[in-house]
Amino acid sequence: MQHPKVEIIANEISPEMIKLAKQDLADNLKTRIKYEIGDACDINSIKDLGKFDLIYSTFTLHHWDNAELAIKNLYSILNDGGLLYIHDLKRVVWLYYVKSKSGFFNSIRAAYRPDEIKAMLNETGINNYKINTIFPFFMQSVLIRK
Ligand SMILES: C[S@@+](CC[C@H](N)C(=O)[O-])C[C@H]1O[C@@H](n2cnc3c(N)ncnc32)[C@H](O)[C@@H]1O
Repeated sequence: MQHPKVEIIANEISPEMIKLAKQDLADNLKTRIKYEIGDACDINSIKDLGKFDLIYSTFTLHHWDNAELAIKNLYSILNDGGLLYIHDLKRVVWLYYVKSKSGFFNSIRAAYRPDEIKAMLNETGINNYKINTIFPFFMQSVLIRK
């Protein structure tokens, strides 16, 4: 096991998703990860998780009811020098020409453009960040350093 002293907490709003995640977890990780039910948009629900050097979120940004608030809340539980790493889909213009209504394409349609993310970050007063577009161009990562 790598970095045995690192504590890992997984936060998720849905108990069903936590159940699924536990099912898929390799045996050696079952006792390693602590799962907590919580709403990233509600500071009362996440402030007791503690403080973190790394907060890593995948494909959740476009699901948050209030993304600006969720980012602000997660940023508030970062240690100084810590990293908030948000990986998600990115809304792209060519998608409007794709007729598919599949869940995947609808998720891309629901995702944010980089300028929208910048506006949210500016609104919250966060200015130490980078937004990287990732191949195949409808994915992006937002790296926010405290
Ligand atoms: C597309 S799934 C991604 C799951 C996982 N992160 C992954 O990459 O496989 C989005 C998840 O975000 C969760 N979610 C949505 N809103 C949330 C919130 N406000 N706080 C915490 N989790 C939330 C949903 O329940 C869902 O499990």
